[in-house]
Amino acid sequence: MNKKVLSACTIAALGVAYSLSVFAQAKPETLVKQRQAAMTLQGKYFGPLGGMLKGSVPYDQKIVERNAGYLQVLSRMPWDGFDPSTKGVKSAALPAVFTDTAKVKDAIDRFQTAVDNLAAASKSGDEGKTKTAIGEVSKACGNCHDNFREKQ
Ligand code: HEC
Repeated sequence: MNKKVLSACTIAALGVAYSLSVFAQAKPETLVKQRQAAMTLQGKYFGPLGGMLKGSVPYDQKIVERNAGYLQVLSRMPWDGFDPSTKGVKSAALPAVFTDTAKVKDAIDRFQTAVDNLAAASKSGDEGKTKTAIGEVSKACGNCHDNFREKQ
């Protein structure tokens, strides 16, 4: 093994150890804050796209493509924050998040698929197709909120 490969392996191993230890030590309150932060950013980057669908924001293919890319990453982030250790922490998550796990998983899968479809549609440059895909993402956010988030 040459030096470069060796150091890459060491870095990778350190990375795994580091992330595991961070996860193990994360306080329930911190996990809640982090999952809410990821949701807040989803709101930030999805908001204008919802506006484009409604017609209150001018359609801009470049912004849809950029935001869809951000959402692909963000849509992978909040879920490990719904750790059982956070059950007692005050938040807007309904208790069903921790009991109806198969349904949560379905809602996450549906959401991530919708976001991936939106990213692909935005790259196609087809406005109609892209707007349909924005609508599907919006439904996936709403579907999960209806079942797993306190009514706002
Ligand atoms: C699989 C379920 C699920 C999906 C999909 C989902 N959310 Fe959420 N969202 C939740 C839950 C549960 C909460 C409450 C979290 C808490 O209070 O800890 C939440 C909270 C939020 C919040 C409030 C964050 C805060 O600061 O308290 C925003 C904003 C939000 N979601 C936006 C979105 C948007 C936009 C989408 C789609 C692009 C989305 N969510 C998709 C489950 C989901």
